[in-house]
Amino acid sequence: MCGIVGVTGNDSAVSILLNGLQRLEYRGYDSAGIYVNDQNGEDYLVKEKGRIDDLRKEVSATANVHGTTGIGHTRWATHGEPSVANAHPQVSADGRFYLVHNGVIENFQDLKNDYLSDVEFTSQTDTEVIVQLVDRFVTKEGLDTLAAFRKTLSLLGHSSYGFLLMDKEDPDTLYVAKNKSPLLIGVGDGFNVVCSDSLAMLDQTKDFLELHDGEIVVVKPDEIKITNQAGEAVQRDTFHVDIDAAQADKGTYPFYMLKEIDEQPNVMRKLSQVYLNDDGTPVINADLLDAIKSADRLYIVAAGTSYHAGLVGAKLFESLAGVPTEVHVSSEFAYNQPLLSKKPFFIFLTQSGETADSREVLLNVNEQKFPSLTITNVPNSTLSREATYTLLLHAGPEIAVASTKAYTAQIALQAILAKALGEADDQAAAKDFDVKQQLALVANGMQALVDEKATFDKLAKSALLHTPNAFYIGRGLDYAVSLETALKLKEISYVQAEGFASGELKHGTIALIEKDTPVIGIITQQKTAGLTRSNLQEVAARGAKTITIVTDALAKPDDTIVLPTVDERMTALLSVVPGQLLAYYTSLNKGLDVDKPRNLAKSVTVE
Ligand code: M6R
Repeated sequence: MCGIVGVTGNDSAVSILLNGLQRLEYRGYDSAGIYVNDQNGEDYLVKEKGRIDDLRKEVSATANVHGTTGIGHTRWATHGEPSVANAHPQVSADGRFYLVHNGVIENFQDLKNDYLSDVEFTSQTDTEVIVQLVDRFVTKEGLDTLAAFRKTLSLLGHSSYGFLLMDKEDPDTLYVAKNKSPLLIGVGDGFNVVCSDSLAMLDQTKDFLELHDGEIVVVKPDEIKITNQAGEAVQRDTFHVDIDAAQADKGTYPFYMLKEIDEQPNVMRKLSQVYLNDDGTPVINADLLDAIKSADRLYIVAAGTSYHAGLVGAKLFESLAGVPTEVHVSSEFAYNQPLLSKKPFFIFLTQSGETADSREVLLNVNEQKFPSLTITNVPNSTLSREATYTLLLHAGPEIAVASTKAYTAQIALQAILAKALGEADDQAAAKDFDVKQQLALVANGMQALVDEKATFDKLAKSALLHTPNAFYIGRGLDYAVSLETALKLKEISYVQAEGFASGELKHGTIALIEKDTPVIGIITQQKTAGLTRSNLQEVAARGAKTITIVTDALAKPDDTIVLPTVDERMTALLSVVPGQLLAYYTSLNKGLDVDKPRNLAKSVTVE
């Protein structure tokens, strides 16, 4: 949440900052700003409410904005409404210090009361307190900027922050610090950059330095000095990011979400190439398999769509590998840890690898010395670094706020891992399960579905465009997918959509059914198909408009959408696609910004 960029030592600082912010817009998009300094006494602070395009217009409308060093921010509001005053950079009262921040300062009110009661604040943000504090420690206590920054950080308790600070009197220096919020330093040729996500700066450099919580970094055009909390120098090698900047472009697609839905068949093929031999045997790190095999229970921990992928994964681990598996929402698990089994193994599912709720659980898990695996799309992300093991999703950058290809990649990779575990344990179910062939069938089936866009556009217009609410229902795996498809619909089209276990309808929810309420039944499991069909009859009898998404093995003449047949354990990979497309076209036909729905941000880095 919130995107940060910085650059020092480059004549194109303004465009580097604006382009970087545009690529980080998925992290927050209610207001934005930049501060640049040209080293010759001229500096500019430009902020605007709205999107980066609005900021660009404001920069163009402001005379001669230029500089070699600067910082920028795109905001997802936590403290104070979206406005120019609350946009970052925040500035100290004397106009000397400029600060951008991603995170939440939990004790900002106490700090304000204790140190700054005489200061007149111009924003409602927690961030302004920090920049005023640095200024206070420099101007009133005579500390140099670094010491003042360090002292300020020491007062922040458990707060989360990624900070980029500039001092007008030392204008080629970026002061950088992080705790819980992601930040990377990018190493350029004669200049350096800072960013929340390497995607922002891939056109400037592919070599990055990771930062750890509690570290402070002083970045100049030709120098990067990392120090730990004790002030000791830290040496660290760069890592290379092997992503082509073009992969993060939407090309000719109107929205990233549609591009990412379309990429799913290839993601299935890529996972098959990376994790399966030609004969279909899984290629998974032996130490990881041993660690999981010695566990008596798996705990999958995740948020949002990743949690929904975990619900499907649990069924795969249980049915193919015979390992009891629980799935938990990170934000609940973090502060209400259930009684654990004797030898737990944790699996963190996270597209971004930065989700604050999941990271909080991982920190607890590490403290308790339990082994863990992060399954993520982002190499070198925080959860990837901090877990015992990592498996990458290889889905390519996912930019749309609504997660699609990461969900199907997470399920496919869990299927491969479950197969590997089951085989290692001599489980017949795993040996008989040809995951390579299944992924090939899934890829073809996905392709057939995404080729039918006009059908989904039409269905979205007729069934979902004007409804205030809608329900997805199913049982077992179909219930798990109902939760995900309902989330897709609600988050981008603002239809009040809920996913229900269809057997639960008569226990209360059926009271909500009115004339023409859309109820979408997902039917892919032979043993419960008849039951869900009966539940659909019951809502139809009360006026609901029913729609069915059914595998062709279970289809009847009147079914709405028929899915190609794959193994029943893999149907989630196909049944979710109509839900993704229905959500997309509902949002599109309402004229909404599909990729950037209201109130949301892609990477949820605050708890
Ligand atoms: O990066 P993560 O997978 O950890 O993110 C978890 C959720 O924030 C995310 O899946 C969210 O629910 C999506 N916007 C849903 O489309």
